Amino acid sequence: MNNTAIEKRTFTQASRSTARLKQRTRWAAAAAIAALISSSLSPGTEVLAQETPAPGQQVALVTGATSGLGRELAIRLGARGDHVIVHGRNVERGAEVVDAINAAGPGSARFYRADFASLAQVREFAETLLADYERLDILINNAGFGSAPDERWVTEDGHEYRFQVNYLSTFLLTHMLMPRVLASVPARIVNVSSGAQTPIDFDDVMIENNFSGRRAYAQSKLAQIMFTHDLAEQLEGTGVVVGSLHPATFMPTEMVRRAGAAPRSTIAEGADATMQVVDSDDFESGQYFSGLTPRRANDQAYDPDARARLRELSEELTGIRFEGQRR
Ligand SMILES: NC(=O)c1ccc[n+]([C@@H]2O[C@H](COP(=O)([O-])OP(=O)(O)OC[C@H]3O[C@@H](n4cnc5c(N)ncnc54)[C@H](OP(=O)(O)O)[C@@H]3O)[C@@H](O)[C@H]2O)c1
Repeated sequence: MNNTAIEKRTFTQASRSTARLKQRTRWAAAAAIAALISSSLSPGTEVLAQETPAPGQQVALVTGATSGLGRELAIRLGARGDHVIVHGRNVERGAEVVDAINAAGPGSARFYRADFASLAQVREFAETLLADYERLDILINNAGFGSAPDERWVTEDGHEYRFQVNYLSTFLLTHMLMPRVLASVPARIVNVSSGAQTPIDFDDVMIENNFSGRRAYAQSKLAQIMFTHDLAEQLEGTGVVVGSLHPATFMPTEMVRRAGAAPRSTIAEGADATMQVVDSDDFESGQYFSGLTPRRANDQAYDPDARARLRELSEELTGIRFEGQRR
């Protein structure tokens, strides 16, 4: 390498690190301001726009990317060069993830806040993304609330909390964002479910009787798998492949800590399994995985009548209908 090339490289490195330093300084100030004003922001609003995707850059949305598995997935996608839409409720933790991605490169990121216990916030979130992005290559529906505490909560929309946060809001968001996913084929939708699966009692979907946090969580997780099977049928032949999975058992994350369970696997293992569903072309759309292995889910996930009932209920509760290629 000649001197000019070395100088040029050194100059480029210096300007990159100066730019990163400036970016960090700007970001530190912005994060402090965001933390101060977060309580007054209108829900679903983009809090801080740090980076925009470059032309041709792959765009990935990871819901629930402010901690645990979602955080790790967002960091991995950023590290391979994607533009990552980081979603969550906690502005400070969202800022930390975005900062980490933007500082490390080569990818970039932005944070958006929306509480999935509010269908209005999910709608506003989706509308903001539709306005801000022309494409969505990867959608990872990861946001979730676990089984603890063992209390029945009702959302502002009047629905059982886990059913809405873990499933119904994902149903609404996915369908609203579908035009961008279809515009980005080949595209991928991954629903992060769980091995905890309990059949839905269609006479008591909101679990007013015999409630337990575990039942509510497991019902919502099976609903995600049923939704995945529906999507696979509706999107057949479009170039959008969908999959669902149990990422790993008792990863050391906030929901596991809240449940008081001893960790049995690592977040890296869960991220490896999820990234396999994001990247692999070696499975049939709709497949459910346990970790890295294709598995059969609870029987109800393969019951067309149960799936139709869930779909109709979800359309009724969200007011959205996606025709796809429904049979
Ligand atoms: N941990 C495990 O062993 C395990 C096992 C099987 C499946 N999973 C699944 O893996 C996914 C990730 O969970 P995790 O273990 O990483 O848990 P976590 O650390 O508790 O992270 C949950 C994420 O979901 C977001 N979230 C929670 N409630 C929300 C709401 N009302 N509105 C919007 N976002 C909300 C959180 O955002 P904020 O913190 O910003 O509110 C956070 O980013 C979940 O779908 C979970 O069911 C986990």
